[in-house]
Amino acid sequence: MTTTSLDELAGERVVNQTTQEVADTVATWIAAESRRAFGAHGSFSIALSGGSTPRLLNEILSGPGWRARMNWDWWNVYFADERACAPDDPASNYHLAETTLLSRVPIDPARIHRMPAERPDLDAAAAEYSETLASSLPPGRGGIPRLDVILLGLGENGHTASLFPGTPALEVADRWATRGLADYEPFDRITLTYPTINAAAAVGFMVTGAAKHEALLATARGEVPASRVNPTDGTLAWFLDAAAAAG
Ligand code: 6PG
Repeated sequence: MTTTSLDELAGERVVNQTTQEVADTVATWIAAESRRAFGAHGSFSIALSGGSTPRLLNEILSGPGWRARMNWDWWNVYFADERACAPDDPASNYHLAETTLLSRVPIDPARIHRMPAERPDLDAAAAEYSETLASSLPPGRGGIPRLDVILLGLGENGHTASLFPGTPALEVADRWATRGLADYEPFDRITLTYPTINAAAAVGFMVTGAAKHEALLATARGEVPASRVNPTDGTLAWFLDAAAAAG
């Protein structure tokens, strides 16, 4: 029987004891990446994920510790994926970001690019977002829009963003965003594609809780959608708590 260890995960692995420490570590990493990006090209672009894990990070970033220290006027905010619902729906990834971060920090609303996943025609909405990425971000290798930071989560089945096992979105190579299909409500999604994710300057996974350990091992074995995240001209980091790392 093959034994897998997290040592086989691509990229850097940072393990903290608690979810609070993981969130603090990710906040520090984001601040460093924002300084790097601003130094390199005078602005900072970041794509946020949904789910439950980012909530604590968002609350820390918008809290007294980081609110005064972050250069919010550098920020341009994008999304890694979105659920097919209204932006004020509690299931919306935009709603999570808006209520726990964006409404609490001074980011120019014109620099917040949410995915219009409430639209009836999700293919058209995804194509529009693909165009938004292309027209508002600098081109990276191969002309692919280059985000400075993409924050990702990991589902128990190894999905990330809305790149779910066995779905057409996994094979999209000529667009920067596409329609996604989840295996839990809301099923319909918009998601960044692998070319966009792997064109980023820095990708960080935030993964907490023992329930994610098997998904991490499956990722290391190359068996799940998260396994194909590996920036071609950038860095990859896994921010884990002890429970996720040890299972
Ligand atoms: C979504 C997310 C998704 C999420 C994982 C992990 O819209 O659901 O973007 O990819 O990151 O499902 O979710 P948790 O953080 O809730 O474990």
